[in-house]
Amino acid sequence: MRLMHANDADEGGRFLGDPLVELTDVDFSYRGGAGESSHPVLRGFSMTIARGECVALLGPNGSGKTTIMRIINALEFPDSGTYRLGDTEVARELVERRDSPFAKSLHQHVGFVFQNSDTQLFCPSVEEEIAFGPVQMGLPDAEIARRVDDMVALFGLGALRDRAPYRLSGGEKKRVAIACCLSMNPDLLVLDEPTDGLDERNTDIVVDVLRSFVAAGKTVLFSTHHHDIVERLDPRIITVRPIDAARD
Ligand SMILES: Nc1ncnc2c1ncn2[C@@H]1O[C@H](COP(=O)(O)OP(=O)(O)OP(=O)(O)O)[C@@H](O)[C@H]1O
Ligand SMILES: [Mg+2]
Repeated sequence: MRLMHANDADEGGRFLGDPLVELTDVDFSYRGGAGESSHPVLRGFSMTIARGECVALLGPNGSGKTTIMRIINALEFPDSGTYRLGDTEVARELVERRDSPFAKSLHQHVGFVFQNSDTQLFCPSVEEEIAFGPVQMGLPDAEIARRVDDMVALFGLGALRDRAPYRLSGGEKKRVAIACCLSMNPDLLVLDEPTDGLDERNTDIVVDVLRSFVAAGKTVLFSTHHHDIVERLDPRIITVRPIDAARD
């Protein structure tokens, strides 16, 4: 995995070492709107994920699992404490810099499957949706076509290839959303409740894909309330506690 280093972001990448993800003593609050108070979610939260691990984030509704995943994908930033991805501290200034090479690199190497697939599907057809990431990466046409074909086969999307993603069922959209992330061949795949709303067959597909992904040396972080997939994937478990409970 190549990601820009904070100090040489404009010059080139460098290889990451272990650990891959390191959150240290993170405090995070959602800012309130006008007249609203802010909403504290994480206080002194730390976790480390090594390259090649499969990790499940478990915890009750509202404990902060999605928030942690948003921080890992640089969609939110700690108020205090640090988030390191490989040897880079992921700071707001680095990511939000105009045309940030780090942000581009991060989004190629870290895939994020949102809980709600509608947030991430926007192309006119499934095929174009899957090709979108590889096109953005500037891959040659033959490689883009190969990756699209691979993902269509892997996720059984042959019959849906030309369909508009927004017209698909929830489970079909989820398969497409995961295929889109995998088509970029990320090093870390972050999935928020990946089997929510999936029937048995589609759950099997997702479990098999995640197993092979980890077997290939890649890293997975997922949240779930489904204990069956925890049993099947046998991840290391990190439990997130609501901060009120954490204080007890
Ligand atoms: N955009 C937001 N603005 C304000 N508060 C938010 C926002 N998003 C989430 N929250 C609050 O932050 C807390 C943590 O939310 P988060 O979505 O991270 O929980 P979660 O562990 O993923 O829950 P679930 O199991 O229901 O998915 C909740 O109390 C939630 O109400
Ligand atoms: Mg959530």
